Amino acid sequence: MSSAFDAGNGKVTVPDILARKSQPSSFSPATRKIVCLTAYDCPTARLVDEAGVDVVLVGDSLGMVVLGYENTLPVTIEEMLHHTRAVRRGVRRALLVADMPYGSYHIEIADSLRNAVRFMKEAGAEAVKVEGGERRVELISRLVEAEIPVMGHVGLTPQSLHAFGGFRVQGKTAETAEQLVRDARAVEAAGAFSIVLESMPRELAARITSELRIPTIGIGAGPDCDGQILVLHDLVGLNAGHAPKFAHRYANIGDSISRAVGEYAAHVLSGRFPSDEESYHLSPGVPDRLLAVRRV
Ligand code: KIV
Repeated sequence: MSSAFDAGNGKVTVPDILARKSQPSSFSPATRKIVCLTAYDCPTARLVDEAGVDVVLVGDSLGMVVLGYENTLPVTIEEMLHHTRAVRRGVRRALLVADMPYGSYHIEIADSLRNAVRFMKEAGAEAVKVEGGERRVELISRLVEAEIPVMGHVGLTPQSLHAFGGFRVQGKTAETAEQLVRDARAVEAAGAFSIVLESMPRELAARITSELRIPTIGIGAGPDCDGQILVLHDLVGLNAGHAPKFAHRYANIGDSISRAVGEYAAHVLSGRFPSDEESYHLSPGVPDRLLAVRRV
């Protein structure tokens, strides 16, 4: 897989992603969809990057799929920075976006800016993602003013879990759908370079996509968005919990790991592992001298 908008050395940049906005077909040929995926550590980030994904997101979903929290709310900025640094070491080509965790941009704007700068300066992120629509306008425009590219996120924003009363599809009624359209417009007007649309009717995501000039990245928002994102652990079958219906499982790595570990345990118990071939041996001549040594 390769990007249609490689910048010289193939590195995907923020302008490349903006250029991937689909245009009405009567004006120009279809642009290629933007392929996004999460990653949380160096080896999987390398695999994801080498497979040709355009955007790697260090999502705060890591709280659930890697750290074992019940939701994303406990994730700290230090945890996000730690994982973003690891992913940075594995990603060469894709655009690296870091999620700002709950509490890191919800209080004072100055603190939010300082936190976002840490992702760029200390962890090597090339953009940050923040959840929320109209109420994030000031924050997004201040981040953009500070040269920090911003990916927005509206719809089912997991950091609003308690306000929503659960992980529920958003925008199903006329009133809530209109609010999401206003939210998406506000994120664009504030200067975001792209926006995640999560868990909403496909018709609504299609309307937002056709209205905005920035690319929309869907997750549970149907096929009409400019790009798609999934959580890596859902895609490869490493997530034991309930998976929403859009979380298409392309592999079952969890089963492979269980099988491999079970076989290893059986071999250790039976003495089949390690074999003589898997053991180191003394240099020629040493065994005799070693055997000659007696315990005193
Ligand atoms: O945290 C995350 O992984 C996300 C994506 C699913 C969009 O926000």
